[in-house]
Amino acid sequence: MSRPVLISPSILSADFGKLASEVRGLDNAGADWIHVDAMDGHFVPNLTFGPNAVAAIRPHTKKPIDVHLMIAPVDPYLATFAEAGADIITVHVEAGPHCHRSLQTIRELGKRAGVTLNPGTPIAALGPLLDAVDLVLVMSVNPGFGGQSFIETTPARLAELRDMIGDRDILVSVDGGVSVDNAARLRRAGVDVLAAGSSVFRGGPDAYATNIAALREAARSGETAG
Ligand code: DX5
Ligand code: ZN
Repeated sequence: MSRPVLISPSILSADFGKLASEVRGLDNAGADWIHVDAMDGHFVPNLTFGPNAVAAIRPHTKKPIDVHLMIAPVDPYLATFAEAGADIITVHVEAGPHCHRSLQTIRELGKRAGVTLNPGTPIAALGPLLDAVDLVLVMSVNPGFGGQSFIETTPARLAELRDMIGDRDILVSVDGGVSVDNAARLRRAGVDVLAAGSSVFRGGPDAYATNIAALREAARSGETAG
């Protein structure tokens, strides 16, 4: 595990009335990426951010914007999220019959392509897609809401994924219920990126730096020696 762990705070837990200052605050607090959860009220039972929100926060950070699209169908929106300034665009394997095409489109748009899957979807579903992705995001809650409990089968799923990835150059991310209590286990299971909402935002802006540092430290404690 040579890559340093990255922390990608989810602005789903931010104050939506102050998104610009929230993003600046996360950037200053040491966030590596900014995770944006786009929900359509159809693929998941909640509505959140569209491309305009990504464009609105784009001037407030130089860090990569990591967009998690919980949208079906997703293809009609890939170009607008790319133009809005997303750096990594992640689509759900369950979002339609042509996930491979969506991933090709994201790369053609010049962005890093991510695929994600719900907790009820077998990891094996990703096999045929691995040569088309730069990132795999493993959901550790059912997508739709922040603040849910971490699903305990996740580390075993991550280990299965790592075996499937082999020596391909793919980042592995995990999203949902990530905290200092499970970060070490997740890191041990092969995670590169922790997407986290509640555990970063807890305590308000003055606590973001401490919370991000605590997550990073907890993850590092799961790294094998040597
Ligand atoms: C859930 C989202 C997550 C969520 C994580 O559908 O994809 O990114 O914001 O929030 P916490 O860390 O609170 O579970
Ligand atoms: Zn997410």
